[in-house]
Amino acid sequence: MNASQETGSDTPIKTHIIWAHPRTDSLTARVVSGLKAEAQNNHMSVSELDLYRADFDPALHEADEPDWKDPAKTFSPHVMHLAESLPGVDHLVIVFPVWWYSMPAMLKGYIDRVWNYGLVYGGGKKLPVSSIRWIALVGGARGHFEKHQKHHYMEDLLNEGIAKYCGVENSSVTFLYNTIALEEDTDDLAKLHETLIDQARSVVSALA
Ligand SMILES: Cc1cc2nc3c(=O)[nH]c(=O)nc-3n(C[C@H](O)[C@H](O)[C@H](O)COP(=O)(O)O)c2cc1C
Repeated sequence: MNASQETGSDTPIKTHIIWAHPRTDSLTARVVSGLKAEAQNNHMSVSELDLYRADFDPALHEADEPDWKDPAKTFSPHVMHLAESLPGVDHLVIVFPVWWYSMPAMLKGYIDRVWNYGLVYGGGKKLPVSSIRWIALVGGARGHFEKHQKHHYMEDLLNEGIAKYCGVENSSVTFLYNTIALEEDTDDLAKLHETLIDQARSVVSALA
């Protein structure tokens, strides 16, 4: 039974996927395809913001600088449009490759510009979604990543520094490890990638 069946509502759960990767044949893109298929299997409605194909400009220009004295500031039309498309979304799923223990500049720029003061935080605002699921593809092995506490560092950044600051307490990060399998003996990379895609799909099925 999904949440809409539980409440007796006919409105499907709305999941919005935001993702960043330069290539449409990347593992990141394949993870996104798997997530969309899983959402549809679970009768969710799915929308998507593919930041690269949308030609999103990640650089924050003057029009999108927050005005700390004016939470009612109107930002650039594109930013206003993207912020206005968020209400009505139940779950945000954000998919990206880990680059330098962080997110690609494209995704960082989306957050810098769209999750802006007075739009999704500050002045009594919160990000109008009930949960955020971050799916981070990690090139290296889990053991190496965890040994250096990089998972805690990234969880703190994403769950506390960003999601909670924007008013969303229900936020978690799923790491898909070993995507390039350089550090471990992996004789079948294709099989490993299928396992990672399944791991990501289980994040969406748990939301249903
Ligand atoms: C600029 C750049 C920085 C990277 N930094 C890291 C890193 O800090 N830690 C890590 O484990 N992998 C790192 N990687 C490897 C990526 O995480 C890996 O290429 C990605 O997970 C593979 O997914 P894809 O095929 O969809 O690109 C980096 C890759 C690039 C291009």
